[in-house]
Amino acid sequence: MNMKGLIAAGGQGTRLGELTRVTNKHMLPVADLPMIYYPLQTLSLGGISKIMIVTGKDHAGDFVNLLGSGKIDKRFYETDQDRNLFELDLTYKVQTKPQGLAQVVGMAQDFVSDGEKFAFILGDNIVENSLDQYFKEFEALPMGSAMVFFSEVTDPERFGVPRFNQNDEVVEIIEKPGKLNPGPPPSNYAQIGVYLFDSTVFDLVQRSKPSQRGEYEITDLINPYIAKKSLHHRFIKGWWQDVGTIQSLSNVGQLIAKTGANNQPN
Ligand code: TTP
Repeated sequence: MNMKGLIAAGGQGTRLGELTRVTNKHMLPVADLPMIYYPLQTLSLGGISKIMIVTGKDHAGDFVNLLGSGKIDKRFYETDQDRNLFELDLTYKVQTKPQGLAQVVGMAQDFVSDGEKFAFILGDNIVENSLDQYFKEFEALPMGSAMVFFSEVTDPERFGVPRFNQNDEVVEIIEKPGKLNPGPPPSNYAQIGVYLFDSTVFDLVQRSKPSQRGEYEITDLINPYIAKKSLHHRFIKGWWQDVGTIQSLSNVGQLIAKTGANNQPN
């Protein structure tokens, strides 16, 4: 796999209240691991080892302390065979102000060479099943393509929501319908925080402008792919959690206890 990885692990985590007063959201425990381990595992199981982590300046040192260069042995292991947790090659970059996910993508411009592809994942997104099959499918697509993933939800107004036409093609993605944008959600699907791009996305980042809430929005990077019919989408199997609230933090612990996360197909 020649793809690289990019993880957004900045932001403020204000919805987690007291839990993020002195620490970064992605350091919080989820089941038996710090949250950031899950997206790292999603990338690593997808065959990606060169990964850039973007975080805010207050906690950048914590990430280096925890993850170092990316080669991590388990703290407790029985045999040498189960010693290795991650064998990654990590790079870090500081986002001085959290001004949106499209800004995070732009920060990877020097990390992703011309003609290379990469998976962008939000540091607080956790999936039940590994996505490696989709990473392989994306590798085979021509340059200039992008791939996004949808999961069925009961509260689409919290997310980016796709509108489909009669042929089940995505015609638009609306960010937080009813909240950031007028009108009801156009479907019951949420776009999860995993996006597959290649180096051509940086042209779009350069042209993007802050939205009304002052952020460089990821949807502004996705919608042009829809217009040129090069956006691919997949419906993921199994659960997906965006661990931004106290409720979802407690849910995800229970889900992982039941099914595990990042499961590989048998
Ligand atoms: P959000 O959940 O939208 O924002 P947040 O983590 O700051 O939380 P809150 O709304 O409670 O204050 O961010 C989604 C993910 O993306 C999360 O993992 C943090 C990360 N992120 C960045 O790294 N940089 C950014 O500029 C933004 C907006 C988010």
